[in-house]
Amino acid sequence: MTKSVVATAFGGPEVLEVVDEELPAPGPGEVLVEFKAIGVNPVEYKQAAGAFGADPSALPLRLGSEGAGIVVAAGPDAVGPDGPLAVGDEVVVYRGSGTYAERALEPAGSVLRKPAGLGWEQAGGLLLTGATAYDTVETVGVTKDDVVLIHGASGGVGLLAVQLARLRGATVIGTARETNHEFLRSIGAIPVAYGDGLADRVRELAPGGVTAAIDTVGTDEAVDVSLQLVGDRARIATIAAFERAGTDGFTALGGGNPDSAALRDRVRGELLDLAARGELTNPIAKTFGLSEAARAHTELKQPHPVGKFILIP
Ligand SMILES: NC(=O)c1ccc[n+]([C@@H]2O[C@H](COP(=O)([O-])OP(=O)(O)OC[C@H]3O[C@@H](n4cnc5c(N)ncnc54)[C@H](OP(=O)(O)O)[C@@H]3O)[C@@H](O)[C@H]2O)c1
Repeated sequence: MTKSVVATAFGGPEVLEVVDEELPAPGPGEVLVEFKAIGVNPVEYKQAAGAFGADPSALPLRLGSEGAGIVVAAGPDAVGPDGPLAVGDEVVVYRGSGTYAERALEPAGSVLRKPAGLGWEQAGGLLLTGATAYDTVETVGVTKDDVVLIHGASGGVGLLAVQLARLRGATVIGTARETNHEFLRSIGAIPVAYGDGLADRVRELAPGGVTAAIDTVGTDEAVDVSLQLVGDRARIATIAAFERAGTDGFTALGGGNPDSAALRDRVRGELLDLAARGELTNPIAKTFGLSEAARAHTELKQPHPVGKFILIP
């Protein structure tokens, strides 16, 4: 038997329940992973709320697409991106399914080896936000000559986008509430408060102009300021303002897009290596037990401390 967190209906955090499940042995190309740390992301409270479809036949809905743990059983032909997988391997799962669990069956293609120097929590909470951040930086084509404005720079995706842009040598201006400005400085960004007057504050910080913008927030303010400051709409990307991207002609990025999915899969190993070498930092804000998943969702929806929320089974 294994414990998993499922949404028993579509709704708020109150619909989450821990259930006991009997799992079959892994089939061809599958492994059974025992999780040590599981990343919690906004997409999961959105899925539970029915934001991506509320078909009752999908219930109970398993949640979670990332985590880190140990392979405890391997089916035939279980070959991951780094080679054959075997019992005892320490691994990172992304994009998995139903990772909010003590154990889950995962397709081998979603199971990478965990670098030895990377802790469970760091590894289990890196890849969803990291691969998304990589996609944004790559899509707007960040180079050392850029001044990049990142909206939501203190968020899970934003803080990794800041660091990836800095690794390319760009100057980064990041929006955050004041309490997070010192953190932004520590990862190499120039902080700026969001809210009224944002465009003017950014102009003061970047008298030579802003050449690219990445929006991880999705507010009209983030979109409007990006459009005002960046002349070339091909150099503006959002992961949250899908409607505005359609009407205003800039790029919206989502994991459902085949190009994004391919890129995000391709960069998983590189992200793990960067984190293991200490070139990317992904602070852990808070850890929760599986039975506290509902509380994790409640807190993640509100203003919360910088860093990842992690479930520890
Ligand atoms: N399309 C995709 O592929 C994709 C992938 C991953 C995530 N997402 C989405 O991207 C969003 C961010 O995800 P995340 O994991 O980074 O979330 P997160 O860790 O909760 O970060 C949210 C950020 O938003 C900032 N923020 C809150 N209100 C704001 C406002 N009015 N103006 C500007 N910034 C504001 C917060 O800054 P302060 O705390 O400093 O106020 C915080 O940094 C979510 O909606 C998520 O679902 C999309």
